[in-house]
Amino acid sequence: MEFRLKISKYSKRGHGLGTVQKTPESLPTHAEVVGTVIGDTVLAEIKKKKKKIYSTTLKEIIEPSADRVPPRCKHVGICGGCVWQQKEYNAQLQAKETQVATLFGQKPLPIIPAVDPWHYRNKMEYTFSQNKDGDKFLGLIIARSRGHVLNLEECHLTASWFVAVLTSVREWWKKSSLKAYHTYSDTGTLRTLTLREGKRTGDKMVFITISGNPDYCINKTELNGFKEAVLKALPGETPSIFLRIQRIAKGTPTEFYEMHLHGPDLIKETLHVNGRLLHFMISPDSFFQPNPLQAEKLYTQTLKLADPKPTDTVFDLYCGTGTLAIVFAPYVKKVIGIELSPYAVCDGELNYKANNISNITLHKGDVGAVLPRINAIPDLVIIDPPRSGLDPTALKHLIHLSPKKILYISCNPTTQSQNITELLPHGYTLKALQPVDQFPHTYHLENIALLEKN
Ligand SMILES: C[S@@+](CC[C@H](N)C(=O)[O-])C[C@H]1O[C@@H](n2cnc3c(N)ncnc32)[C@H](O)[C@@H]1O
Repeated sequence: MEFRLKISKYSKRGHGLGTVQKTPESLPTHAEVVGTVIGDTVLAEIKKKKKKIYSTTLKEIIEPSADRVPPRCKHVGICGGCVWQQKEYNAQLQAKETQVATLFGQKPLPIIPAVDPWHYRNKMEYTFSQNKDGDKFLGLIIARSRGHVLNLEECHLTASWFVAVLTSVREWWKKSSLKAYHTYSDTGTLRTLTLREGKRTGDKMVFITISGNPDYCINKTELNGFKEAVLKALPGETPSIFLRIQRIAKGTPTEFYEMHLHGPDLIKETLHVNGRLLHFMISPDSFFQPNPLQAEKLYTQTLKLADPKPTDTVFDLYCGTGTLAIVFAPYVKKVIGIELSPYAVCDGELNYKANNISNITLHKGDVGAVLPRINAIPDLVIIDPPRSGLDPTALKHLIHLSPKKILYISCNPTTQSQNITELLPHGYTLKALQPVDQFPHTYHLENIALLEKN
């Protein structure tokens, strides 16, 4: 059944929503139309209803929105990477500000835009995949497919060397007899290809992740072939190259083992934050903000909103490689960081020394487990958890600590708002919300929230 729809808002996944009334008797229901922009009038074929929303197939754009622009990339609509390329950048910013205001029921500060909304990402993970005929694919997962992979030929979110290396590794793989890893049967070798860079330093890192199943190991000739393919795409350069083995066994957490193949064993990044030039070293498994130029603004704004005092004790929870701890350390008495990844903690220790800082202590472990063991009372707690937000144990200990100020940074405002709803009854007021556009052309959003004791 085809319907004419006016797109009036966005779904949680960033797609256009219009309203459909199937018959005069039925209730008006939302229909999600992939690839549309608020203000478009479209013809869409209505399909299944899931969670009270119809999925559709876009048949025709009858009247385009004033915010519609031609997308840059030929893979738009197929690639699951960026779903907002057809939307003018200011309209993207407006939609993100509206999303924060709707979620928190409070007006945020104006969103901080990206100076250049292209080529901003410093990391990408590509997937190796094969179909039933054995055809080989290396790229990003196709949107709304069951894990099918697109042979990516261009991408405007990264520097151009990403696609050069991707293409060269794909050509090497096509000539080799290695198979892509298949999850359900635990067969095959090649899982993912990950590329990282220091945006301000130009450092480059490439690692290939293979199965830990010994029946599908990689031999030295194949490994050399991979290394040569990377170096061929980067003539005259010395990238860091690693082999990473992913071991999965029932009942134990997934483990990674790394083998250093070429170049430096980590990459360097520098950030300009609040007039200081900060230095960071990042190893393959450590988290680093994916858009470093926006991270500079995120950290500068975090510092401004927190307004720390020289007598303050600060906790930096989920501290990664110690970035926020290093940003705050010169302005406070001491910073205590907690981070799960041992690699990130090692990098964090190198990093605070490289920045001549001596008032940081980092603890390795799960925030929920480590927090009650720390013998200090914080004035300010900074939290920057993964997308899932705070788990109930971490939240319980945070409430018990009862700091005067909590600064909550998140790349998932939905879980952030859920956690904040649980914190507010414990004497906190939501003082400020500051969205930062870390992920142009996607519906993803970074948001800072400042909570203070009444
Ligand atoms: C969004 S990153 C934030 C890193 C850091 N604040 C930054 O700006 O670079 C989240 C970090 O939390 C860590 N993490 C995930 N789960 C954790 C847990 N249960 N306890 C401690 N750290 C955890 C991850 O390894 C990652 O480094």
